[in-house]
Amino acid sequence: MPDSKLDTVETPAVPVLKKLHIKTYGCQMNVYDSERMAEAMGGEGYVLTDSPEEADMVLLNTCHIREKAAEKVYHELGRLRPLKEANPNLKIGVAGCVAQAEGEEIRRRMPLVDMVVGSQSYHKLPAMTRAVDRGEKPVDTDFPVEDKFEHLPERPVQARPTAFLTVQEGCDKFCAFCVVPYTRGAEVSRPVARILGEARKLVEKGVREITLLGQNVNAYHGEGEEGTWSLARLVRELAKIEGLDRIRYTTSHPNDMEDDLIAAHGDEPKLMPYLHLPVQSGSDRILKAMNRKHTAAEYIRLIERIRAARPDLVLSGDFIVGFPGETDQDFEDTMELVRKVGYGAAYSFKYSARPGTPAADRTDAVPAEVADERLQRLQALITQQQRATQEAMVGRECFVLFEKPGRQEGQWVGKSDYLQAVHVKGENIRPGTLARVRITASGPNSLAGELI
Ligand code: SAH
Ligand code: SF4
Ligand code: F3S
Repeated sequence: MPDSKLDTVETPAVPVLKKLHIKTYGCQMNVYDSERMAEAMGGEGYVLTDSPEEADMVLLNTCHIREKAAEKVYHELGRLRPLKEANPNLKIGVAGCVAQAEGEEIRRRMPLVDMVVGSQSYHKLPAMTRAVDRGEKPVDTDFPVEDKFEHLPERPVQARPTAFLTVQEGCDKFCAFCVVPYTRGAEVSRPVARILGEARKLVEKGVREITLLGQNVNAYHGEGEEGTWSLARLVRELAKIEGLDRIRYTTSHPNDMEDDLIAAHGDEPKLMPYLHLPVQSGSDRILKAMNRKHTAAEYIRLIERIRAARPDLVLSGDFIVGFPGETDQDFEDTMELVRKVGYGAAYSFKYSARPGTPAADRTDAVPAEVADERLQRLQALITQQQRATQEAMVGRECFVLFEKPGRQEGQWVGKSDYLQAVHVKGENIRPGTLARVRITASGPNSLAGELI
């Protein structure tokens, strides 16, 4: 139950600068949430520090997706113990998806934790911090009726020309292996006006590229003028913002790839030609067991349609190997799908049984060494495709949005339209410069180019 005291408004004390260290795990949604948490704590006099040693408060913004991710949190808490012993005033908070999933249990296992705040209630962090000052140990993992975004401070000046903007949260898909529907709750879309407002402010403050975020971002159905808006309509409206040069979105689900969004890839120049569209497996049997509700052939047909709209589209995906019951043939089907699609990038994971998910009850686990071997083979194929995609860029011209200085003198790093890192030398480049570049070389993880 929420602590009613946490909802009461208190006069902030005279501001004394305090230091906050946030460590972020997991997906981009957590990166975005960490920024908003830091902004919320700014009102309490906290400034960010990279060093946990000098912090007055350490927040771990956690991920529950695989066992390893969740275990990292307890490992990190163990490492914080000496800091807490040396400085009993140090506040330690656990936020994010492990907090949501385990709540009170975290404090039982790790008494040094002062507060636990779930993914949907972190707007209460300032009030919870004051509760810790009063000697309380608040835990809040509610899915509150109020919208946390309405209770968070306005976004300050951005140091970077790119920004994330959460437009949708939660998931109703219930893939058999996945904790997200439990940690993030049901699908909720933010209203159109709020998103446009946040985007305009970001652009006023120097942002030139916005990545719209959602666990199922293309399931977006936010309230706007004349009823509910699709993601495609939202993208087209955002594209009208002057000074905003690029729009991306992630992560999408194949079953929510509607015709209007495919069309936008063809005719909305600000929508970038890079799409992360996870499929998880190339075997229909496994896709069914995963509750993905699509076949491998349907996925491939979908890709053909998107590529017909935007032929230079670079695709990325997610794969799970070693899902319970996965046979050699099932895995070969995955390899075959990867060969057919040709990914510019992709992420592959060994299946991890997660408590509370339907797949965790299965007794036909794939032996670890078999899953390891499959993972290695899949990763080798993906790396090969990624290199080939990069090498095909050599000699071509593309736009690069520069973000930060590179390691070498006079060198800058930015991203191509296809989300590839590109290194370029140039005297007049600044963060936010969008320039045409000719690609001259391809390295393992990035490209090199020169200004045209
Ligand atoms: N909402 C997104 C991403 C969810 S999590 C989507 O639907 O695609 C990111 C990725 O983690 C997933 O795409 C999946 O490949 C992987 N993943 C999720 N649960 C997992 C598990 N139990 N074991 C291994 N990988 C998992
Ligand atoms: Fe998880 Fe599936 Fe939802 Fe993605 S679509 S967040 S993998 S349940
Ligand atoms: Fe992890 Fe939560 Fe994102 S479980 S992947 S941080 S939604």
